[in-house]
Amino acid sequence: MDSFALIIFGITSNLAQTKLIPALYDIAEKDLLPENTVVLGIARSPKEKEQFREEIKKAIKNSRKTKEDVLGKLINSFYYLDGKFDNPEFYNHLDDALSQLQHQGFVCKNRIFYLATYPNLYGEIFKNLQDKNLNNQENGWVRLMIEKPIGEDLKSAQKLNTLLLQYFTEDQIYRIDHYLAKENLQNILTFRFGNGIFEHLMNKDHIDHIQITVAEDKGIGTRGGYYDQAGALKDVGQNHVLQILALTTMDAPKEFSNKAITQERLKVIESLKAFPENIVFGQYEGYLEEGNVSPNSKTNTYFALKTEINNDRFRHVPIYIRAGKNLARNVAEVAIVFKVPENRILKDKTHELVPNILFYRIQPNEGIILKILVKKPGNKIATEPTYMQFCYKQLSTDLSDAYEKVVLDAIGGDQTFFNDAKEVEAQWKFIDAYNSSSHIPFSYKPQSWGPEEANLIIKGDKRMWLEPSIDFCKL
Ligand code: BG6
Repeated sequence: MDSFALIIFGITSNLAQTKLIPALYDIAEKDLLPENTVVLGIARSPKEKEQFREEIKKAIKNSRKTKEDVLGKLINSFYYLDGKFDNPEFYNHLDDALSQLQHQGFVCKNRIFYLATYPNLYGEIFKNLQDKNLNNQENGWVRLMIEKPIGEDLKSAQKLNTLLLQYFTEDQIYRIDHYLAKENLQNILTFRFGNGIFEHLMNKDHIDHIQITVAEDKGIGTRGGYYDQAGALKDVGQNHVLQILALTTMDAPKEFSNKAITQERLKVIESLKAFPENIVFGQYEGYLEEGNVSPNSKTNTYFALKTEINNDRFRHVPIYIRAGKNLARNVAEVAIVFKVPENRILKDKTHELVPNILFYRIQPNEGIILKILVKKPGNKIATEPTYMQFCYKQLSTDLSDAYEKVVLDAIGGDQTFFNDAKEVEAQWKFIDAYNSSSHIPFSYKPQSWGPEEANLIIKGDKRMWLEPSIDFCKL
């Protein structure tokens, strides 16, 4: 991989400190960071280099066990520049700093700009980078990494994408959805398309319904300012949840390439049918007392909805989704519930019509689990349900953090597990149909599975939410 300069706008932001910088350490520890790579952190307050490096050290040490030699070497590649992002003069300093670093032996002709700033500053930043020729690719490559939210609805996302494309080409833009870099989410593709025996079951002839749960056991913490404007549907529904759904249900890509995979994900998202009457919003008790939350806030911290994919493969297969904060457990999981065959010969030997269920456990205890019927040990013919499990812990106890993959892919120029403009817009089009700001959320108890009313979404179809098992892959 090429050496490069990583220029972080907003180095003191929570994301940079807790995700990006520790990911750089992980990459360095695996000896995957190209030599002569430099990290230039930018924030507003003036700071000496040594103080800055101490802070970076602390951020890394707070998040993982470190090896002194790796940390020492990495820290020496961190530099700091203070300035206001909307001040054109600052970009002269940035230009000078990059030239100096280049002189010192670092490679600054290849550049990744990582923006951990408010999106309303993007326009100013891009214009200034362009005016100083800093996004010019004549001598090397230039890439841009940006975090969600990419807009707050379809219209604002389109506006932002138009702005991005004024200064960068699509192949330079890395829109991060870190769920796409999660090990077991990527594994869904391998499981489905690498094996020959499951894929022909993944359609409406065999599947009764699909459930997706993305539950977090913590509240919003210190992120009230952002979260109260967004809510659960926009915070995780528009992005992470839809990507889980897309990888679970997309058609086989023609090849394992960025273009082919992104195209198939997009096709699914564009085919989603929204049922605006089939959504329930919740807000956990105590949310209104959280910092930076409006006292009368109607923001949702939970949602449950039903959708369908309008294509020949999945038409009329219900997909039930629920996600939220302060729920009973921290768990992300897909459950594909298969139809019970009408001619099951052992029907009279089971006390209930147990369906086969395929679980993708995305986190924690990552794995793929299949619920099956087996013969109960003994002299009689009787059946009992049990589980066949593939657990990641059997292969490795040390799964990479998603951000490590996000950064490595950006360094390597691989956009397969990032979103392009069309995909983000298709996601918003679906989410906008639910008009979340016009709903009054039902209240729910912290550490519960959400408001009672959420059961109506699924009970009306004579089905029930499956409680994610605490036993999966607990090796
Ligand atoms: C972020 C959301 O995108 O994803 C957060 O903004 C959420 O609200 C987080 O907590 C969940 O990510 P993970 O990797 O902890 O499941």
